[in-house]
Amino acid sequence: MPAHTTILNRTILERLGLRSPVIQAPMAGGGDTATLVAAVNEAGGFGFVGAAYLTPAQIAERARDIRSRTALPFGVNLFAPQPDPAPSPLLDEALARVAPFFAELGLPAPIAPAHAGDPFAGQWPAVLDSGAAAFSVTFGLPPADTVQAAKARGIRVMGTATTVAEAVALEQAGVDAVIAQGSEAGGHRGSFLGDPAANLIGTMALVPQVVDAVRVPVIASGGIMDGRGIAAALALGAVAVQLGTVFLTCDEAGASEAHKQAILAAGEDQIRLTHAFSGRPARGILNRFMESVEDPDKPGAVLPFPLQNALTRPLRTAAAQQGRAEFLSLWAGQGVRLARRRPAAEVVAELLEGTGSAIRRLAGG
Ligand SMILES: Cc1cc2nc3c(=O)[nH]c(=O)nc-3n(C[C@H](O)[C@H](O)[C@H](O)COP(=O)(O)O)c2cc1C
Repeated sequence: MPAHTTILNRTILERLGLRSPVIQAPMAGGGDTATLVAAVNEAGGFGFVGAAYLTPAQIAERARDIRSRTALPFGVNLFAPQPDPAPSPLLDEALARVAPFFAELGLPAPIAPAHAGDPFAGQWPAVLDSGAAAFSVTFGLPPADTVQAAKARGIRVMGTATTVAEAVALEQAGVDAVIAQGSEAGGHRGSFLGDPAANLIGTMALVPQVVDAVRVPVIASGGIMDGRGIAAALALGAVAVQLGTVFLTCDEAGASEAHKQAILAAGEDQIRLTHAFSGRPARGILNRFMESVEDPDKPGAVLPFPLQNALTRPLRTAAAQQGRAEFLSLWAGQGVRLARRRPAAEVVAELLEGTGSAIRRLAGG
């Protein structure tokens, strides 16, 4: 992007360890492969690994893989520690609701999911030793000792907010930047205060209110797919943007082919919020599984996070192998129509070029 695009705050970007305003979102579940992160970095963006579902050994391995592909800095993201889910009185109903789909895919009947305890404490040392330049959390505040330990090693700490109150809480917890996640965003809502399915503030409304409420830099996230969206986010006061969906259809992304094809074929009016896959609200493309599990005529058959996630995992794994998009969690944001099948380097180049030209257009140049 040309230097005269003065809306960019180079000093703050540098302080955050970013070479441009483009951040590739962490995408737990396999979308953010080492190849994707490295390609984004080499093209001028900043890649993140969503490590929430990885074991400590897998985190170390992924970080090694990234470091072998790029010398440029990358980030690692975790889900903040969550309370243990309460035993659910809905267990039998939840099992019964998904059982026909297990049978349809030729799987054994679903069994009651076990909760192995919150993984954060086990994952954290691997994150600290991963060589990451940034650490971000979603679903809550980063624990105080992790903020201190990260900062002592020069690792930037970021947290996800979906409301002004969450942004203020993150600032008080010591983060270096707040990621303001609008309701357009693909994947899980990062909310941790109040009802995450009720606090649905769009990026356009959320970002300037967060910018006014905190002193730390704000990163806009949700529904941003091209340079026009980035220029808009910068105009709202964000210093950078975090994009997920636009990177999911990249050649290097680890999303299943069925997921990529579903994104490329979807329209914005097919994108819904659902608890059906994990027990936490997340945004994705409406499919048969979502419609049947959250049937409004038969409510209340979803276990709390992460039990529902564990319950549906075998189904999602088999569905990905069999190319059955109707049973996949097809996470995608509302900007879905702007997704293209491309190498990540092209996406980053176009995002940076598109931001520059949008800003020049607005400046009348
Ligand atoms: C497939 C997928 C997985 C995601 N996983 C994570 C995650 O592990 N951690 C996180 O902080 N955000 C996660 N997100 C949310 C992103 O950080 C970001 O807020 C979102 O992708 C922005 O909206 P967009 O998809 O419209 O660009 C995920 C998003 C997607 C699409």
